[in-house]
Amino acid sequence: MAKRKPVKLGAIIHGVGGNISGWRHPEVPADASVSFSFYKEQAQLAEAGKIDLVFIADGLYITEKSIPHFLNRFEPLTLLSALASVTSRIGLVGTLSTSYSEPFTVARQFGSLDHLSGGRAGWNLVTSPLEGSAKNYGKPEHPTHDERYKIAEEHLEVTRGLWDSWEDDAFVRDKATGVFFDPEKLHRLDHKGEYFSVQGPLNIGRSRQGQPVVFQAGSSESGKNLAAKGADAVFTGHETLEEAKLFYREVKERAVAYGRSEDDIVILPGISPIIGRTFEEAERKYEEIASLVSIENALDYLGRFFEHHDFSQYPLDEPFPDIGDLGSNSFRSGTDKIKQTAKEQGLTLRQVALRSATPRGQFIGTPEHIADLIQQWHEEKGADGFIIHSSLPSGLRDFVELVIPILQERGIYRTEYESDTLRGNLGLKVPVNRYTAEKVQS
Ligand SMILES: Cc1cc2nc3c(=O)[nH]c(=O)nc-3n(C[C@H](O)[C@H](O)[C@H](O)COP(=O)(O)O)c2cc1C
Repeated sequence: MAKRKPVKLGAIIHGVGGNISGWRHPEVPADASVSFSFYKEQAQLAEAGKIDLVFIADGLYITEKSIPHFLNRFEPLTLLSALASVTSRIGLVGTLSTSYSEPFTVARQFGSLDHLSGGRAGWNLVTSPLEGSAKNYGKPEHPTHDERYKIAEEHLEVTRGLWDSWEDDAFVRDKATGVFFDPEKLHRLDHKGEYFSVQGPLNIGRSRQGQPVVFQAGSSESGKNLAAKGADAVFTGHETLEEAKLFYREVKERAVAYGRSEDDIVILPGISPIIGRTFEEAERKYEEIASLVSIENALDYLGRFFEHHDFSQYPLDEPFPDIGDLGSNSFRSGTDKIKQTAKEQGLTLRQVALRSATPRGQFIGTPEHIADLIQQWHEEKGADGFIIHSSLPSGLRDFVELVIPILQERGIYRTEYESDTLRGNLGLKVPVNRYTAEKVQS
């Protein structure tokens, strides 16, 4: 068997956390979601662990039932720009929605972050699952799931086109001759499509890594196709290794069908490790977090995935209710999975809500156990690496101090950054500017 490339790792930094009641845990600074010092400390900790990237997730609509982190948090690009100045090697990845943005702005903002950080920027492209987002952007309605992905495909094509506006050596900046740029190396996009009309060129040139790294986080059929066609990396989520392997194989095969190589796309499932020096300690940590969540909180949390459906109207201890198609226009792959698991395992509404609000997952136990699972998922091609979400701030520290040294000892994780760009560390090629490539070919 060909030797696998080393494991890649990302860390989600998520303020007071993705858990609906996690902010009440004694260890969590209650203002973490708007505390730069918190983000700085976590990003520097991740960098000390030689982690490839930090990731700042985002959404565009809240209600009073949203989890506390969503109610009051930093906008990703602003935060990442600040983090760029207090880190030097780690990748800086943030979410921005293709359904509620213009390619020119996206290309420009990530282009700027890429320069500010010396080639460490990454864009997590999402199509926005929440219907209410339309109300915040003056749109008559939220586009359907299918249409969102059509918009996303064109958006990405235009954004990548804009990033190539200037060839790498276009800016001559010769003071003696007064030549600032070479006009032959400046290109207008002149894109006119179904959803976007963009002339260009972009008012910022390419960075050291050519283009920011594009991540894609949807796992439905349309999400997989978009990733396979145009993304450099994928964030996904799987409960079992079997599921992860299937997804991995499908996306890699589809990428090859689009004329790419398997190595052109890095697949990173999300995991939420809970680490204890013993299994009992890990279990106790899980219980500490889970016990903070009331059933009312859990029902609200579940509702968000299903277009803010009110689940409190159903009996708690009867089978998960038949809610028809609800959820398929929002987090489709996630909501399909919740419905399917409830049916297959005969779960009650209470069980579904509590499991969603405090997912347990397999990655709970001693550092050796977590390292074993990471190694197994990686070796058996369920993942090229992982995006880690720690329920508590100390979770990242535990991971860096206790798990990473084991992975390093086993020779499957770096001991030093290979590169100072995100692309370089992820083992991705620098994309040649399309116009330069045409010239070389002709
Ligand atoms: C690790 C990970 C991170 C994600 N981050 C975001 C995010 O920041 N913002 C967002 O709107 N959706 C995020 N998503 C959700 C996806 O964008 C997508 O809506 C969801 O996976 C459903 O897939 P589908 O839209 O293809 O059905 C994330 C998903 C995963 C697995």
